[in-house]
Amino acid sequence: MEECLNRSCPCLRSLWDRLFKKEKRNDALERKGSNSSHFKPDSDPEQRYNAPPQFVASEEGAVYVALWAFEARDTDELSFDAGDRFRVAKRAGDWWTAAKLDASGRVLATGVVPHNYLERAESVTLQPWFFGKMNRIECLSHLLTDQNKDGAFLVRVSETDNVGHVLSVKVKNKAKHFKIYHSENEFYVDESRRFSSLLDLVQYYQSHPLASLDRLGKPCVRRKPKHQDLSHTTVDMWELPKEDFILEDKLGSGYFADVYRGKWKNQTYVAIKVLKNNESLNQRTFQMEVEVLKQLRHNHLISLFAICTSSIPYYIITEYMEKGNLLDLLRSPEGNALDLEILTDMAFQVADGMTYLEDHKSIHRDLAARNVLVSEGYLCKVADFGLARFIKEPIYLSNDKKIPFMWTAPEAIEHGIFSNKSDVWSFGILLHEIYSYGANPYPGFSKKALREEIKCGYRMPAPPKCPHFIYKIMQSCWRERPDDRPNFKSLKSELQECINRII
Ligand code: ADE
Repeated sequence: MEECLNRSCPCLRSLWDRLFKKEKRNDALERKGSNSSHFKPDSDPEQRYNAPPQFVASEEGAVYVALWAFEARDTDELSFDAGDRFRVAKRAGDWWTAAKLDASGRVLATGVVPHNYLERAESVTLQPWFFGKMNRIECLSHLLTDQNKDGAFLVRVSETDNVGHVLSVKVKNKAKHFKIYHSENEFYVDESRRFSSLLDLVQYYQSHPLASLDRLGKPCVRRKPKHQDLSHTTVDMWELPKEDFILEDKLGSGYFADVYRGKWKNQTYVAIKVLKNNESLNQRTFQMEVEVLKQLRHNHLISLFAICTSSIPYYIITEYMEKGNLLDLLRSPEGNALDLEILTDMAFQVADGMTYLEDHKSIHRDLAARNVLVSEGYLCKVADFGLARFIKEPIYLSNDKKIPFMWTAPEAIEHGIFSNKSDVWSFGILLHEIYSYGANPYPGFSKKALREEIKCGYRMPAPPKCPHFIYKIMQSCWRERPDDRPNFKSLKSELQECINRII
């Protein structure tokens, strides 16, 4: 057809070119788009808003951003890079005439561009409240930070199949989740009020009550990701000069070490463990151990940043966690108000960190709520793995063997057999601590009596109000034979299922 028209009306060649090339280009774009969800109609809910029809009518003067680079093939086309900004002058089908802008909004060049390479600068994916793909757990960790007041909200794409978009709102230190329904270009939380865009829906509930709640407040503050190292220069350096650190508040004091909140280079908050038993410490062994520990990196393990062993007392530098240890938190008024969802989420996070240790053939030996640290948004990290023999406190240690009696598996107490499965036993006790809001395990038992009772099959009863399905997990951690206990990987997925049941 193209050829035939070219032959019969050569003077209109440029028109035929535009018409037929456009078709071909669109084919190419469709193909390119098949990798990229921006072109998929409705298959991925995150993409449903791209160039929704309702924007078109009111787009006079609107600014667009390029999502991909494009190379001009004709003199009337405009080349651009991803991130370039445009003002659209003319919309003709799929190819628009647009002016490329510089940072201050001045026109750099004008030409024809493929419209589906562009996204409205204020499109939904660029909104401060749009958090993209995210599960409830991550959502809680953003929403429940102290910076967010009641009414703070975000919209996320649920990781659960067929759920699509969810509006999550902070209410009294909890999160309420509203499924956003989407049908035939309409969005709604409540069937009686439908919107032609997600943007409209959010704007409406910013000035009108949402279900039983008040209006939406401010968009959720995005939690800054934590660094895994002090800076890019310290990634491979574990020995750092003591002078770079200043000690501020004392966070805790023990027999072997005091812990301070401190600062590195007067900028970055860190936790500084100041060791007391320096005489008995072999500096080289200590450094080698630390080198190994520095390789263990996971979002739910405390990052070891550095050590200072050039002079006495030695320092161990780790990341700082604002809410301190989980045991103290659970026993505080703030901890007492935590609901089952957050408790289970915290248990899940610990299981996640422990799964990483399990995968890396590393044994903790002292897993307990006092060794889990908590930061903003109830982000939990397992601490003190590996350094046990250097820094363990004697308070809860038995007289004969230096082990935390109430948390330790029978085979570890009796025969010194520590394994990931003895960590699993301790995790069961940790679960008990979590769901009892920090109660001491086996209250009133002497060590000797407990040893005998455990041998005869005695196990702690469920804490008050602890769901049966959680207690069953605890019991599975306390099976006599280590091989009969679940591993951390399966504990993690069981806890995920519990979260799905609770919410
Ligand atoms: N107490 C002990 N270690 C800590 C840390 N890393 N952050 C906060 N409190 C702590």
